[in-house]
Amino acid sequence: MSQTLKIAVAGLGTVGAGTLKLLNAESALLKARCGRSVQVTAVSARDKSKDRGVSLDGLEFYDDAVEMASKADCDVVVELIGGSDGIAKQVVEAAIAAGRHVVTANKALLAVHGSGLARQAEEAGVTLAYEAAVAGGIPIIKAMREGLAGNSVTRIYGILNGTCNYILTRMREEGLEFTDVLEDAQSLGYAEVDPSTDIDGVDAAHKLAILASLAFGREVDFDSVHVEGISRISQMDIQFAEELGFRIKLLGIAAITDHGVEQRVHPCLVPADVPIAGVEDVFNAVVAESEYIDSLMLEGRGAGEGPTASAVVADIVDIARGLKIPTFAIPAVDLKSPEPAPMDRHYGAYYIRLMVIDRPGIFADVAAILRDHEVSMESVLQYGRSPDEVVPVVMTIHETEEARTVRVIEAIAKVDGIVEPPVMIRIENL
Ligand SMILES: NC(=O)c1ccc[n+]([C@@H]2O[C@H](COP(=O)([O-])OP(=O)(O)OC[C@H]3O[C@@H](n4cnc5c(N)ncnc54)[C@H](OP(=O)(O)O)[C@@H]3O)[C@@H](O)[C@H]2O)c1
Repeated sequence: MSQTLKIAVAGLGTVGAGTLKLLNAESALLKARCGRSVQVTAVSARDKSKDRGVSLDGLEFYDDAVEMASKADCDVVVELIGGSDGIAKQVVEAAIAAGRHVVTANKALLAVHGSGLARQAEEAGVTLAYEAAVAGGIPIIKAMREGLAGNSVTRIYGILNGTCNYILTRMREEGLEFTDVLEDAQSLGYAEVDPSTDIDGVDAAHKLAILASLAFGREVDFDSVHVEGISRISQMDIQFAEELGFRIKLLGIAAITDHGVEQRVHPCLVPADVPIAGVEDVFNAVVAESEYIDSLMLEGRGAGEGPTASAVVADIVDIARGLKIPTFAIPAVDLKSPEPAPMDRHYGAYYIRLMVIDRPGIFADVAAILRDHEVSMESVLQYGRSPDEVVPVVMTIHETEEARTVRVIEAIAKVDGIVEPPVMIRIENL
């Protein structure tokens, strides 16, 4: 295999420009590893004149990325525009229809259309590769599809969004509230001007849906992911969690349960001494569990020019080497239907914080509700005795079904003297 692998890149932003830089800087290494040259021949972006910190000399520039995908002189189209629909999807479909391999970093696209695009690619005999779409520079897709090929993964979970992890880390380390850290993160460029996709958990949910499909051999089922973000996490909860021996992390968790495939993204209390609790700042981590490996954790940078370009180029190298693996580890036509587990059947332990008027008898009412619902308390924290003042009361309850926990919380919210809606955070058994 000696002929040059020709690449067309759609999108020249953070990841696109980073990919061009890496391909230029490491061309000799890549040639040695692939046994052939890898050469960018065409690019597309909205603004041809923008300085991207990398030379576009000698490259064919297309204003229309879809036209490039079907007409450019290339073997591989690299889609780095973004978005679940519209232009990015058109580019990928046009490339597949024209018999070009596709590399993308687009988690939104794969979360929403992954199974269909995988079928199209496999029918056309081309590769659809997406290492950069999940956890940036962490080679989790390769680890799952190749390194763990002999394992039935039973649970996969991770810190899948660097912005949320950064905010939660700074809240804990500096005693700041969510909104203060968010503003700071925006001014430092760690959070987008519109941060909702990150802080509402949607970005992590996109990645989780892809991981779940890969882990469990099922069609990608983003619509069934239970999603909660971090905006309601308060400094008070971070401190109570710490006191109870936990840290609060936004996790994406997918598992095979008796009720189907559970996929959920939400803030969790994780024991402070488990490895993922120590993954801080903008770092991501993914943990896969199975019978043979027990537990495997990969940690690294989940975003940014260098880490994401590294993952994009790894996919290009696989194509250059002629490696062919089904998109989601088994042929797309054989992916099973999703079978989502309803969230109210989730079984776990819970942290519940109440804001209570400090008056005799109120906690007895709360205890009676727990007893009536056959829910047992594991621990309780209460501070200060300031008669008739509002004080926080924190309790953790033993494992029970989510539907039952919700009924308990609804009943507690009605107790005279509970002045705010109770805060509930799930405790993870990791
Ligand atoms: N940034 C990260 O750290 C990261 C990490 C993992 C995955 N990703 C994923 O990688 C993809 C790209 O992200 P990014 O951060 O590089 O985005 P970005 O910086 O916003 O760049 C997007 C690029 O797409 C181009 N573009 C937009 N509309 C276009 C159109 N109609 N035709 C042709 N080009 C068009 C833009 O052109 P102009 O420059 O001319 O405006 C820009 O170059 C997304 O799917 C994202 O989710 C990003």
